[in-house]
Amino acid sequence: MALSPPLTNFSANGIGNAIPTTRRRLTTRRPRLLPHMAASDSSSSLGSFEQGRLERPKWAGHTPLSRLVSALISFKPFYSILKLVARHVLISTAEKNNIPWREMTKEILVSDVYRELESIQDHSIVYPDHFFNPFHAYNEGNLSWLAAAEAEAATLSMMRRTIPDASSADEANQIARANWLQAIEQHHLQYSETSIIRDILDIGCSVGESTRHLADKFPTAKVTGLDLSPYFLAVAQHKERKRVPRKNSISWIHANGENTGLPSDSFDLISIAFVLHECPERAIVNLVREAFRLLRPGGSLALTDISPKSKMIEELSPVLFTLLKSTEPFLDEYYLTDMEGTLREAGFVNTKSILTDPRHMTMTATVPQ
Ligand SMILES: C[S@@+](CC[C@H](N)C(=O)[O-])C[C@H]1O[C@@H](n2cnc3c(N)ncnc32)[C@H](O)[C@@H]1O
Repeated sequence: MALSPPLTNFSANGIGNAIPTTRRRLTTRRPRLLPHMAASDSSSSLGSFEQGRLERPKWAGHTPLSRLVSALISFKPFYSILKLVARHVLISTAEKNNIPWREMTKEILVSDVYRELESIQDHSIVYPDHFFNPFHAYNEGNLSWLAAAEAEAATLSMMRRTIPDASSADEANQIARANWLQAIEQHHLQYSETSIIRDILDIGCSVGESTRHLADKFPTAKVTGLDLSPYFLAVAQHKERKRVPRKNSISWIHANGENTGLPSDSFDLISIAFVLHECPERAIVNLVREAFRLLRPGGSLALTDISPKSKMIEELSPVLFTLLKSTEPFLDEYYLTDMEGTLREAGFVNTKSILTDPRHMTMTATVPQ
């Protein structure tokens, strides 16, 4: 297929300057793009980060080991201990990696972030049942100020563990985000005849990190961050207000990505980053179907999440994978979901999947013209 004309609204490197002051010096550097970015075909790109030998790790899905771990986690006294240990490990690992977790959290919690809630919260929202599940070691899941205040530190820490040879958590984050944006750019250039991206929706935007990267990469696009947690959105809006105003200001919407109520055919690009592993299969299917409805013909969908084939994930130690499963109640469902089939059944074409870092894949697809 012939390439479309170059997109006119991609920024030079897709890297934002909107990074908190404490880490600004490190993030002004151009990130190293990882080797696979030169490849244009998914099968060859997949080889650039090491894949495991299995379709998915032994501790996920329907294997005996997976059942054993799930049975242990479902035993309440054991789960309560695991939750505490998981939280302790998360915070101490982050702080060992120079991510000032407690300081960052306090900065949010003592700020005037609370004022943002009223303007952002849609009181008519009916939350899906699974959203009330405790996860990430928070009893209220994502429906709490603590989860929202800790989200940035938690994301940075995850990126640092993903790219351990980066010089800092910021560099790891920038590398992974740059690769993800590059995968999106390549896909859209290759498959969309409309080429210019005017409207972008970031479903499950959390505290706005992915949204800000999208807005920096596509500086002429209108970018909207959507999330089901009003606390996360309040933090996103609070952080954005503290930055230098951008030309393409971001809008934040409190809605369910499974059924947004937004008009059909209204976006050229939809991103769903690090959301699906937090969802049961029926929600994954609904999110993909809703994205298909919201995208214009030729529009691109980008899903980024844990890769079932990541060698790094396959080789997690028993302690770490047990802790991971204890904080991610839908991980098994996510691993067992046929993502390509789900995209195909929703109507998407040109599905591609590449490892954009050692743990995560970016799956891209197009709405037929
Ligand atoms: C791990 S965070 C996403 C991180 C963010 N996209 C990034 O790249 O930094 C997952 C987010 O998905 C949101 N979420 C989960 N289910 C959702 C749904 N059905 N609709 C909208 N947001 C959802 C959660 O509230 C949470 O903020």
